[in-house]
Amino acid sequence: MKVTVVGAGAVGATCADNIARKELCDELVLVDIKEGVAEGKAMDLMQTAALLGFDTRITGSTNDYSKTAGTDVAVITSGIPRKPGMTREELIGINAGIVKTVTENILKHSPNAIIVIISNPMDTMTYLALKSSGLPKNRIIGMGGILDSSRFKYYLSKAMGCTSTDLQGVVIGGHGDTTMIPLTRLATYQGTPVANYLDADTLKKVAADTMVGGATLTGLLGTSAWYAPGAAGAALVESIVRDEKKLFPCCVYLDGEYAQKDICIGVPVIIGRNGIEKIIDYKLNDEEQALFNKSADAVRNMNNALGSL
Ligand code: 2OP
Repeated sequence: MKVTVVGAGAVGATCADNIARKELCDELVLVDIKEGVAEGKAMDLMQTAALLGFDTRITGSTNDYSKTAGTDVAVITSGIPRKPGMTREELIGINAGIVKTVTENILKHSPNAIIVIISNPMDTMTYLALKSSGLPKNRIIGMGGILDSSRFKYYLSKAMGCTSTDLQGVVIGGHGDTTMIPLTRLATYQGTPVANYLDADTLKKVAADTMVGGATLTGLLGTSAWYAPGAAGAALVESIVRDEKKLFPCCVYLDGEYAQKDICIGVPVIIGRNGIEKIIDYKLNDEEQALFNKSADAVRNMNNALGSL
């Protein structure tokens, strides 16, 4: 199995680190446009192999995609991250060109690759990659909801005073501060609704904190977060290469599901060796569906900014 991570910045390198530690592939290629960075990070990571005990071979490449030939799964993290005060949406102008070119380069050398998009604004970048490549919809997966859901469980665990691994919770909709929808009604603590333990105001606060989870970190760090985004990317790769068929909320192309068409946005899906294997219908109530429609309108608005592809 061969995995490529494009963009050897903090998110890409953390994703590669997680992939290697779990030995999700034999070969892992890091690509970056900045001379020497991918090679350097690959070498640094390889020097952890003896300490951590993994056999994945990691190599780096400065923009030479021939080294990525035969990739099964490519994770695209390229582009600029947001700075404090910036929304993910403000990155669209610069990142659109980068994501389109990277997708083309990957597919030129690995026509059968499944592509995971992390670059922001993620919903629009996923739509762009899908439309510009013409790939079947099961092969382009946007990473957002899985990260937002992990943040949701973090804030829930703090409010509950329990471990986040005892919690289930899903965030759907766009991967934006105002577009994501933490589904508090469906969140559970070992199978029982969290609403049994937390009052409505606390649940509202958990949802609000989740929605600005990325922005809170950007404010603290001066740039986008990387540990959770990198780990979330690796969890997607794991479900693909090991054919785990895990249910994750991911940004996928909708063709009528959740009452939306011609848009990539976050919904619960099964991820396996074929990428997106199934979209799961959560049977939203009217209020949740209204929020989802509003979120889709905002994402669609942003997609319009792409102009003609
Ligand atoms: C985040 O939410 C990078 O979009 C990513 O941290």
